[in-house]
Amino acid sequence: MALLEAKDLVKHFPAARNLFGRPTAFVRAVDGVSFAVEAGETLAIVGESGCGKSTVSRLVLRLIEPDSGQIRFEGKDLLAFGSDALRAFRRHAQIIFQDPYAPLNPRMTVGQILTEPLGLHDLVPAPRRRQRVEELLRLVGLEPRFARRYPHEFSGGQRQRIAIARALAVEPKLIICDEPVSALDVSIRSQILNLLRDLQDRLSLAYIFVSHDLAVVKHIAGRVAVMNLGRIVETADTQSLFAAPRHPYTRALLSAIPVPKPAARRSRILLQGEMPSALHPPTGCSFHPRCAYAASRCRVEAPQLLADGAGHATACHRTAELPDAGGVVPLDGALSPTLEKLVAAFGRTAEGSAKCGVGTGDTRPAKG
Ligand SMILES: Nc1ncnc2c1ncn2[C@@H]1O[C@H](COP(=O)(O)OP(=O)(O)OP(=O)(O)O)[C@@H](O)[C@H]1O
Ligand code: SF4
Ligand SMILES: [Mg+2]
Repeated sequence: MALLEAKDLVKHFPAARNLFGRPTAFVRAVDGVSFAVEAGETLAIVGESGCGKSTVSRLVLRLIEPDSGQIRFEGKDLLAFGSDALRAFRRHAQIIFQDPYAPLNPRMTVGQILTEPLGLHDLVPAPRRRQRVEELLRLVGLEPRFARRYPHEFSGGQRQRIAIARALAVEPKLIICDEPVSALDVSIRSQILNLLRDLQDRLSLAYIFVSHDLAVVKHIAGRVAVMNLGRIVETADTQSLFAAPRHPYTRALLSAIPVPKPAARRSRILLQGEMPSALHPPTGCSFHPRCAYAASRCRVEAPQLLADGAGHATACHRTAELPDAGGVVPLDGALSPTLEKLVAAFGRTAEGSAKCGVGTGDTRPAKG
C-alpha cells in the first residue's frame, strides 16, 4: 500500500466572474493528476512555472480542496477526514516552502517556533520539550544555543534548517518540499539537499520534492513526474527518465540544463513559442503548440499517460515513433558549474553523472 495516493485530481480556479459573482472563466491549474508515493521514497514533481506543482502540493495536504479526484493516505480516504482526523494527518504530512523566512514567525524565538508543534500535537511532555528542541536543532546541524535567537538573526540556509527542524518536530512520514533550495546559494543548496537525504535515511521519510530545477531533482529523487499545464506528461524512475527521456517536453527541459563550455558540441531543443495559458489550454495534447513532433491527431485528442512494463509512463501519441533519446545526451559529457558542485556534494563522479544523460542535442525532426 502506498503512503500517499492521488487519483485524477482536478483543481480549476475561478479567473473571472460575472455581475452575479458566478465564475465565467477558470484557470485549469491541475487537470487530472494521478501518482503514488511509497514510504521512504522521494517523488520529484518538475515543470515550468505555473504548470501546477504547488497546487498539487496544497491539494494532497488538503490545504485546498480539489474539485474532483481521490487522495488516500495510508489507504484512508483523506477527503472524507473530519477535523480530528485531519489534525492527526497534518502531524504525518508536513510542508517546507521556498522562502524559508516567510513561514517563520519573526516575533517568536527559534525555541518557541519548534516547541509550538510539540504542544499542538501533544507529542512530548512539557518538561521534556526544551531537550527535544535541542535534539531537533542538532539533527539539522544547528547549535542548541540558537534556540534563544530570532529568525532574522539567521542566514537563508540556517532558516531553511529551522524550517526543516519544525517540520521534523512532529515526526512526519511525508514532507512536501516546495522548491526548498531555489532561494539559496549553490553551496548552501547542496548542504540542505544533503541534509534532506541524510534525514530521509535516518528517519525513513517520504518526500514530494517540487522543483523546476532538473539538476537538483536528479540527485535527490528516486522517481520523477514531469508536469505540463496541469497534467503529468511523463513519469519514471530518475535513472530511466534522465537516461532515456521520452516525452518531447521532458527532452526539452533536460536540454535546457546549462552546459558551461562554449566550445562544447551541443544544441538546445528550443521550445517553440510561449507556454500556453492554463486559462485557455490548447485542445488535444496541451503541448502541441510547442512540440516539434506535433501531428494532426495531437491537436484534437489528448494523449493518455500510458506505462510500459517497467512503469515508465508517457502521455504522447507518438512515443513509439520518436527518435532515440541518445540525441539529448551531451556529446562531450560536460556539466554546468552548478551541476558539478552538486555532483561533488553528493560524492559522485562527474563522468558517472554525465552518462546518465543530462544534456543536449538537437533531435528535432520535420513536423509530422
Ligand atoms: N489561488 C489561486 N487562484 C487563481 N489561480 C491560481 C491560484 N493558485 C494558483 N493559480 C494558478 O494556477 C496555475 C498553477 O499555479 P501553481 O502555483 O500550482 O504553479 P507552479 O507550478 O507551482 O508554479 P511556480 O513554479 O511558479 O511555483 C497558475 O496559472 C496560477 O496562476
Ligand atoms: S507528439 Fe503530439 S502527443 Fe506527443 S507531445 Fe508532441 S504534440 Fe503531444
Ligand atoms: Mg510553485
